[in-house]
Amino acid sequence: MNDTRTPLSFTDWMAQIQQRTETALAGVLPEPTIAPQRLHEAMRYAVLGGGKRVRPLLAHAAGELAGASAADIDRVACAVELIHAYSLVHDDMPCMDDDVLRRGKPTVHVEYDEATALLAGDALQTLAFQVLAEAPIGADPAAQLAMVAHLAVASGSRGMAGGQAIDLASVGMQLGRAELEFMHVHKTGALIRAAVLLGARAGQALGADELARLDHYAKVVGLLFQVVDDILDAAADTATLGKTAGKDAENDKPTYVSLLGLAEARQLAEDMLADAKATLRPFGARALRLEQLADYVVHRAF
Ligand code: IPE
Ligand code: IPE
Ligand code: MG
Ligand code: MG
Ligand code: MG
Repeated sequence: MNDTRTPLSFTDWMAQIQQRTETALAGVLPEPTIAPQRLHEAMRYAVLGGGKRVRPLLAHAAGELAGASAADIDRVACAVELIHAYSLVHDDMPCMDDDVLRRGKPTVHVEYDEATALLAGDALQTLAFQVLAEAPIGADPAAQLAMVAHLAVASGSRGMAGGQAIDLASVGMQLGRAELEFMHVHKTGALIRAAVLLGARAGQALGADELARLDHYAKVVGLLFQVVDDILDAAADTATLGKTAGKDAENDKPTYVSLLGLAEARQLAEDMLADAKATLRPFGARALRLEQLADYVVHRAF
């Protein structure tokens, strides 16, 4: 390796991680020719050929910082992205947000059927844990076991699924700031945080203080991600988003936009971005990708 070469631009680094994530995901998903074919097709439809891959990008950025091998980070990144993809399939179903468009394509229950969407989500979730557990990641089996436990908590009733339950129970209500934050931290923040921490734990190079800093960054970016998702739902158009714009208002969901208005929600996002970047400062140039990703999360178009 030539250490004096110019680092890749953020755009090129992102494209490279997205490409290797696509390859890794395609490799762990069962082939569509294997029975039950329709289920395997639906799983691949839900995961491949779309999505920003923000969670894999965060896992790679944190893993690179912690000295993890790219191959180990790929496994962690796939596991988190599979949980994310499952959460989207179920989030779009008629019993939840009832959406027909995702990543510019018909949602899984529209393209296939509701039972297939339910089962594809189930199977993606268990595949995530298979990927995380079936072969060694890093040098310490106890650390790997902790990763499995972390992802389970982040995905379950104390994490994403719990946040989704609060989201559905809050339709038609105007939540206060603390309640809204609690919902967002769970439904979206927990998995983003897991992406960062599992990436970091795949390596060994970080001390306790550095891990604590990374955890604070991950919590802020996790909440920030959903604040910006709320803003985009209200401010962007369907063609840009690849999902139906204006759905939060249509479904009467409490969001940061319904609570604060667009201008104040945008200001909050900028304030949180500054907090995330300040947390990274002691890492210096080692945290370049994490810093760039925080900027990307706030200033993305979709
Ligand atoms: C959308 O997530 C759902 C939320 C958790 C806000 P993303 O915006 O990461 O969706 P993709 O993966 O890029 O399609
Ligand atoms: C979804 O939040 C969070 C998940 C756990 C999937 P949203 O319902 O706002 O996500 P989008 O806007 O449909 O992508
Ligand atoms: Mg939802
Ligand atoms: Mg939704
Ligand atoms: Mg949304």
